[in-house]
Amino acid sequence: MDRKKFYITTPIYYPSGNWHIGHCYTTVICDALARFHKMLGEEVFFLTGTDEHGQKIEKEAQKRGVTPMQFIDPLVSELKDMWRLLNISYDRFIRTTDEQHVRSVQKIYQKLYESGDIYKAEYSGYYCTPCESMWTEAQLVGGKCPDCGREVTLQKEESYFFRLSKYAPRILKLYEDEPEFLQPKSRINEMVNNFLKPGLQDLCVSRTTVKWGVPLPFDPNHYAYVWIDALSNYITALGYMSGDDSLYRKFWPADLHMVGKEIVRFHAIIWPAILMALGEPLPKRVYGHGWLLIGGDKLSKSKQEQARGQLTDPYELVKRYGTDAVRYFLLREIPFGSDGDYTGEKLLNRINADLANDLGNLVSRTTAMICQYYGGNLPPRGKTEGVDGELIALAEGAFKKVKRAMDGLNAPDALAEIFNVVSRANKYIDETTPWLLAKDESKQARLGAVLYNLAETVRICAVLLKPFLTESPKRILESLGCDAEAGFDTLTFGGLKEGVPIEKLPPVFPRIDVKKELDEVDRIVKSKKKTTEQKKQKAEEVQVSEITIDDFAKVQLKVGEVVACERVENSDKLLHETVKIGEEVRSIVSGIAKYYTPEEMVGKRVVVVTNLKPVKLRGVLSEGMILCAEDKDGNLALVSPEKEMQSGGSVR
Ligand code: MSP
Repeated sequence: MDRKKFYITTPIYYPSGNWHIGHCYTTVICDALARFHKMLGEEVFFLTGTDEHGQKIEKEAQKRGVTPMQFIDPLVSELKDMWRLLNISYDRFIRTTDEQHVRSVQKIYQKLYESGDIYKAEYSGYYCTPCESMWTEAQLVGGKCPDCGREVTLQKEESYFFRLSKYAPRILKLYEDEPEFLQPKSRINEMVNNFLKPGLQDLCVSRTTVKWGVPLPFDPNHYAYVWIDALSNYITALGYMSGDDSLYRKFWPADLHMVGKEIVRFHAIIWPAILMALGEPLPKRVYGHGWLLIGGDKLSKSKQEQARGQLTDPYELVKRYGTDAVRYFLLREIPFGSDGDYTGEKLLNRINADLANDLGNLVSRTTAMICQYYGGNLPPRGKTEGVDGELIALAEGAFKKVKRAMDGLNAPDALAEIFNVVSRANKYIDETTPWLLAKDESKQARLGAVLYNLAETVRICAVLLKPFLTESPKRILESLGCDAEAGFDTLTFGGLKEGVPIEKLPPVFPRIDVKKELDEVDRIVKSKKKTTEQKKQKAEEVQVSEITIDDFAKVQLKVGEVVACERVENSDKLLHETVKIGEEVRSIVSGIAKYYTPEEMVGKRVVVVTNLKPVKLRGVLSEGMILCAEDKDGNLALVSPEKEMQSGGSVR
């Protein structure tokens, strides 16, 4: 029989580099859902990735004097590190600069152009660069972006438009016929009242001023609007419109697009309209979750961390408290669908109350008592009596409740069910007082039964916790002599065999002294603030300060001759040149593939910075930089000696 499929996606992240704990929220929830469905025996495809095109990236790279790819690559590695740290079990990490994605986006545009859903007209509107969003004058709030409140710029250009307005009635009908499509329910009202009722306008889907993007196949002076490029990732990642679309046929439509509430309109209006125009099925569910707030604001790492004395850096948080603690906080603390507050204190209280006290105590008390009274071998199950029935029923019934919560995507409720069993088991210890039973010869059988019931409850809780916490449940299962890979098919009470060796576990989550820790965090945040301010000041000084001839002399510039050139594999931006500089031959990678073909490059005299530290770009060694001039639109032209000049000559 065919296994049930489950295709789940996170939004693809802007490679901003300012990763904060709020960013981890969407992805950790998706990871718990993906793991849960894998444990149900379903065939899961879990997609995440990065959204790498657009004006924001183009500008940031320009500001730093590097190519967009040089700017993005390290940030993407950082993001992948962060997901590794949080044990995110994605099946594919897509980058919108992947060539296959770019080609499929071009085919999507071509198809919509040919069907008449994309047409050319004059665009005039307001653009918010940080949100990469377009607005009409009427939509602005006090002349600013209605989403983020920042400045917008008036833009006029000839553009291609998508006939979004045509699909408005079908989208309204979709919400009516399939209310499950967009959740929580309140988001439907937002979409209808804020966007559909006032009337949808056709959407401008191309730019000529932003060149860091996907060129349109039918008019290469125009580049795809980043949101169309980005949304398409959900199908291009499955090979849609590529040579091999088997994954697409297997997994589409997606079971769930999990997104933050600020990007619901892209996923619940624009995306279904595009899919309708392409004649493709719609995703089954879009969920717009709330935000993690700090002092009432959406997190922004640099601003908030320093202003409010909170640590928001995921690397730092995981380093201090561990992966499971950070995952637990994110999954448990925020009522699902609503906003929730993050403070260091709340995080520490959660760790102490639930993980160290409830779960940690249950595990250490249970394993310690089995070691103390039975030499580390599990006693037999024995007779069920007194309060046993209640504990056993709760432990056995937990899976059903957890599943119901997870069907509603509600991880906080699912965890509450599991911790309900944990608390009941702690209470059971107090009720049955094993330490008193141990003192009475005639109560040995009862002591054995009590400890067995506890060990079995711990085992069931550990299996249930596996989608949420990725390290401690495995340690707990191993200490009970169980397979760490145990799945939901092992949840019947009585699975543990008499005599299995039980290992005394040290506290799985050590208790944290909240006051001491908050003081320490305060100290770290203050010292970070100081360092950032110093860096900023230094950067400003460097920007405005004049340089001496000696400073300039530190940069070694030489004339080189390109003797060979090829494209860098899997990149449509990079060329790999072999450059002869006097007697020396160097390998250099440059982001100029959009402006020069490899054939054009061969034979060119260029100016090379020869004393730059070598780096690897897309795995290719780059031992220098070829100088280019750049105009305000980001077009590049090589800088060459104006007269014939031998290679190796210095430039001064
Ligand atoms: N690139 C777009 C998505 C394109 S999807 C086709 C984007 N990227 S993002 O990097 O800004 O956001 C990624 C995810 O992080 C979004 O789901 C966003 O809601 C989430 N979060 C960022 N800050 C957040 C909080 N403070 N709290 C919860 N989630 C938030 O949007």
